[in-house]
Amino acid sequence: MLAGASRVACCKQPEGGDSRERARQSQGSQGKADDGIGQPSAHRRRPRYSGKYPRRFEEKYKELESRPETVAKVLASGKTPAGSHVPIMVKEILEVLRPQPGDTVVDCTLGHGGHASALLPLIQPGGLLLGLDVDPVELPRAKARLSSLGFGSQTLRIRKSNFAGLPAAMVAERIAGADCLLADLGVSSMQLDTPGRGFSTKTPGPLDMRMNPQRGLSAAGFLKKIQSPALETLLRENADEPHAGKIASALAGKDFALTTDLTNAVRSALGSMPADDIEKSVRRVFQAIRIEVNEEFSALDALLRNLPGCLKTGGRVAILTFHSGEDRRVKKAFQSGFRTGIYSGIADNVTRPSPEECRANPRASSAKLRWAIR
Ligand SMILES: C[S@@+](CC[C@H](N)C(=O)[O-])C[C@H]1O[C@@H](n2cnc3c(N)ncnc32)[C@H](O)[C@@H]1O
Repeated sequence: MLAGASRVACCKQPEGGDSRERARQSQGSQGKADDGIGQPSAHRRRPRYSGKYPRRFEEKYKELESRPETVAKVLASGKTPAGSHVPIMVKEILEVLRPQPGDTVVDCTLGHGGHASALLPLIQPGGLLLGLDVDPVELPRAKARLSSLGFGSQTLRIRKSNFAGLPAAMVAERIAGADCLLADLGVSSMQLDTPGRGFSTKTPGPLDMRMNPQRGLSAAGFLKKIQSPALETLLRENADEPHAGKIASALAGKDFALTTDLTNAVRSALGSMPADDIEKSVRRVFQAIRIEVNEEFSALDALLRNLPGCLKTGGRVAILTFHSGEDRRVKKAFQSGFRTGIYSGIADNVTRPSPEECRANPRASSAKLRWAIR
C-alpha cells in the first residue's frame, strides 16, 4: 500500500506559521557547539569571532563550509546548518513515487537538491531529472552541488522557472511526460536563514521575502501600497490570523525598511497580549505576506491544473505542504481529479513525518504529504 492510505497523523500540528519558520526561530544558537567533536586530521586554526562562537550568519556559513564535523554536530542537535536544507520525508516520498531506472522525474522545487539527490541514483541508468526553482541565488549552488555528485547534463537538467509554467518548461526540455513529479512547497532553509533574503522575524535584514528577488514587489513595497481592509482579508485567508483587523490597521500603508521593524510593529499592535501569542501572530503575519509577495497560491493552483497533462499514464505525483491553505488546495484538486477519472488513485489521508523525523528536524513538523497517480 502507498504511504498515506491508512497512516494516522503522528506529529502534532502546531500553531503560528509553518514549522520551518517556527523551528528557525529556535535555532538562534546554531553553530555554538563547535568545541572539538570529531578531531580534524590536520591541525587547523579555529576562525576568530568577536565572541567565542560564530554569531553572524556569514560567520556560521563560512565555518560550516570548511568544517564537515561541525555540520554533523549541528545536524545531530536537530538544527539546520547555515546555508543548507534538510530534505523532509525522503523515505515516504520515495515509497510514493517509486522511481525506476530510466524514469523521467520532475522536481518542481529543487531547493538545496536534497530530494533530487535521493531520486537521481534510483533512475539510473537512463533516467533524467528536471529540476525547477524560481530562486536565482540558490539555483546555481544546487546545480554545482548535484554536478559534484557526478550528475551531468545527460541525467540532470536545471531551469530557473516557476512551476506555474511547468508545461512550457517541459516543452523547452523536450520532455513529453513525467513518470514521477515532486513539489516540496514553500521556502527553503537557505531562504529562511539568510538575513539578506528578508524572511527572518528576528534577525534584521531588508524586508524583502521574494524567492525570486528579480521579480515583483518586495514585502516592504507591498505593505506600503496595500490598504487596511485588503490586508486584513489577506492575513485571515493566508494565515488564519485571529487579530487580523488590529494588525492590518497598524501595518497597512506604512514604510518598513527592516524585517525587525515589521516584527516590532506587530508586537506593539498586540501590546497587552501574552508574549507567546504575540510571537505566533508575528510568524503568521510573515507567512501571510510571504505567500502574497510570491503569489504562492496562484502558482500552486496553476500547477494543480496543469499536473495531469504533465504526467505519463501511470505517472505519480507527491506534494509536500506546510499549512492548511496549501493542503486544502492539493486535497481538493486530487479528489476532484479522482472523481472525474483523471487520477486512477489518490491518497485517502495525508502522511505525516514520523516523530523521530520531527525530533531530528523540527522544520518537518507541519509537513503533510499527498500523492496521486495519473
Ligand atoms: C522547501 S524548498 C525545497 C527543498 C528541496 N526539496 C530540497 O530537498 O532541497 C522549496 C523551494 O521551492 C522553491 N519554490 C517555491 N515556490 C516555487 C514556484 N512557484 N516555482 C518554482 N520554485 C518554487 C523555493 O525557491 C525553494 O527553493
